[in-house]
Amino acid sequence: EPTKMESVANPEKPHALCIPYPSQGHINPMLKLAKLLHHNGFHITFLHTDHTHQCLLESLGPNSLNGLPSFHFRTIPDGLPSTSTSTRNTPSLCRSMSETCLPHLRNLISELNHSSSSNVPPVTCIISDGVMSFSLDAAQELGIPHVLFWTTGACAFMAYLHFRHLIDKGLVPFKDWIPGLNGIRLRDIPSFIRTTDPENFMLNFLISETQRAKEASAIVLNTFEALENEVFAALASLPLPRVYSIGSLQLLLNQAADDRLKSIQSNLWKEESGCLEWLDSKEPNSVIYVNFGSMIVTTGDKLVEIAWGLANSNKNFLWVIRPNLVSGTAAVLPPEFVTTTKERGFLASWCPQEQVLSHPSIGGFLTHSGWNSTLESICGGVPMICWPRSSEQQMNCRYCCLEWGIGMEMNSDVKRDEVERLVRVLMEGKKGNEMKKKAMEWRKIAEEAASPKGSSFQNLDNVVNHVLLSSR
Ligand code: UDX
Repeated sequence: EPTKMESVANPEKPHALCIPYPSQGHINPMLKLAKLLHHNGFHITFLHTDHTHQCLLESLGPNSLNGLPSFHFRTIPDGLPSTSTSTRNTPSLCRSMSETCLPHLRNLISELNHSSSSNVPPVTCIISDGVMSFSLDAAQELGIPHVLFWTTGACAFMAYLHFRHLIDKGLVPFKDWIPGLNGIRLRDIPSFIRTTDPENFMLNFLISETQRAKEASAIVLNTFEALENEVFAALASLPLPRVYSIGSLQLLLNQAADDRLKSIQSNLWKEESGCLEWLDSKEPNSVIYVNFGSMIVTTGDKLVEIAWGLANSNKNFLWVIRPNLVSGTAAVLPPEFVTTTKERGFLASWCPQEQVLSHPSIGGFLTHSGWNSTLESICGGVPMICWPRSSEQQMNCRYCCLEWGIGMEMNSDVKRDEVERLVRVLMEGKKGNEMKKKAMEWRKIAEEAASPKGSSFQNLDNVVNHVLLSSR
């Protein structure tokens, strides 16, 4: 049934230019938002970098980025030399893009706006990742709305906003020192703060990106109000444009029920088949899922500790080991581990994570606490063992463990005994049971937020009608 959001009054389609930061955890949520806007009658130009475009063609196949009518992919260079590895160094990429991308973006927009094809309406709004604020210049030059999409939770966004303040204050950790973030410790603050060099690039980059957030027409976050109420209340008192929570984008997208949109994907690694069928053969809540996302790198030693922890726990596990998870070499697991766990373990290099997390056989998630993984786990009703490594993962972990009651933190210096113990607590203990219950409650609240009367659904509707279409 068509919703209110589907009817766009103006006969000429609005055209949203969507600019993700080029890494998996940022492309995925932006693609979801783009699909939702397409579903709402927008023409979409989705911008990849030449590098991610190439990775996507390799993992998804040569026709995977052909797009749809009114959903087109375009590329610009990221300014770094081309290499074959799928993961770029974050500081180099942020620096290079903020210094070199704007002219390419201007050219692209001008090309789109002078397109001879009647199928491409002029660009009417820009939605960019929060750390791609150079694109604000392009929007300001054209006088069109620009929305910044910080793909983190509100808690992490709030912490980034306070980097400058933390420096001015001399970085003293004390209770309630950032409004809306209860009892947060210095170690929970996004890891870019951990530098002794006041000139450090990432530190200053994030300060200037959050400063520019003031200039946007609006800010959107892939989270839902009920999850981070206090943070939203505190954000509302800052000199910022309105901050809208529009997550989970996936739950909103599920209602769009447009099969053509499902065909557009964004995996930078090739998905291994078989794990869903394997999960089908397992009892409900019997499998621990292990995945550390798209960026973190660890050592062979730590991998071996995790392996023996899983083996000794005696639980079923689905473990995804990304090809470049271990620095320098291929990940090597002890042959004895592989043979002893053959019956109850499934190893893969990349999987359809959201489907995995909503599979009834999954009872827990050992995660690096990236924001997407965290939100996907909440939406699947799956409690977590959190092993945060960098960026805002520590913050997400803290919220999972202390605020939401759905996580247990694992020591950074991981040892097999602790892995075994935590897996057992999560999968068979009383505490694990309580966390599972809590996770199911959050899942229900997430679903309510995404339902037509819910806050995220309404917020997206408001962004579309009062921000993105405001100048029309
Ligand atoms: C990075 C940062 O590490 C994270 O802290 C920040 O919030 C976003 O950017 P990343 O390491 O990619 O994130 O983790 P995450 O945010 O969890 O995103 C990974 C995405 O890849 C998820 O959407 C997940 O579903 C998907 N994925 C991951 C798969 O589809 N299959 C896999 O096997 C692994």
